[in-house]
Amino acid sequence: MEHAKTNSRRPWVVGVSGASGTPYAASVLRALIAAGEAVDLVVSRASRLTLLDETGIAFRDAHWRGDLAQWLARGADGKPDTFADVELSGVRYWPAGDLAAGPSSGSYPVKGMIVVPASTACVAGVALGLSKDLLQRAASVTLKERRRLVVAVRETPLSGQTLKHLVTLDEAGAVVLPASPAFYAGATHIQDLVDFVAGRVLDAAGVPHELYRRWAGDLGGGSRDED
Ligand SMILES: Cc1cc2nc3c(=O)[nH]c(=O)nc-3n(C[C@H](O)[C@H](O)[C@H](O)COP(=O)(O)O)c2cc1C
Repeated sequence: MEHAKTNSRRPWVVGVSGASGTPYAASVLRALIAAGEAVDLVVSRASRLTLLDETGIAFRDAHWRGDLAQWLARGADGKPDTFADVELSGVRYWPAGDLAAGPSSGSYPVKGMIVVPASTACVAGVALGLSKDLLQRAASVTLKERRRLVVAVRETPLSGQTLKHLVTLDEAGAVVLPASPAFYAGATHIQDLVDFVAGRVLDAAGVPHELYRRWAGDLGGGSRDED
């Protein structure tokens, strides 16, 4: 009898939906790659608009590798070559319309999923189990398989409807993580604030990183005066 095939690759699925905050996604992706994690990337249709608006990059399925390289090289301040030469060999890309893609099945081996940034539409779709595209389907699969799902929601203010959807996600086992930077870590640039949120996302996923300075119990440690 033929033995079952083994596949040691166990990626994090990263879903980028159409909320503002593509620099958060870029920071999370760079940090996962730096930590040696494999990544399966899904970019929603709507997120191409936010990506175009926030970076000037027109993300194309057929040219994803080049477009992704350009995106990940970009700093949160818009400078094009801040993070050059990000290694993409561990990244697999799935078009958002491909509902037959690996992450659409619970039997596809993954560690879990990160949605960053998460739109309120995406939050609703996952809370209601709509699976309207691969991103939402993969998130629903992550919940049903009881794997780690981190949802970095970005909207303000939040409607009662969205708050209910977020409670539904929390009760289903997801980590609801508002894209809400803190100021105790001594941020002096936009990138620092972005990396703080991305670092908290990686904390929730259990992936080691050095994206921000952790709280050490000293009030005033985030002050810029000492610099
Ligand atoms: C420039 C731009 C910025 C947006 N920012 C947000 C946002 O911060 N939060 C949000 O929930 N939706 C935002 N939207 C709306 C979403 O893109 C829209 O609800 C879309 O249907 C989300 O689809 P998706 O979840 O499949 O990506 C924005 C749209 C555009 C064009």
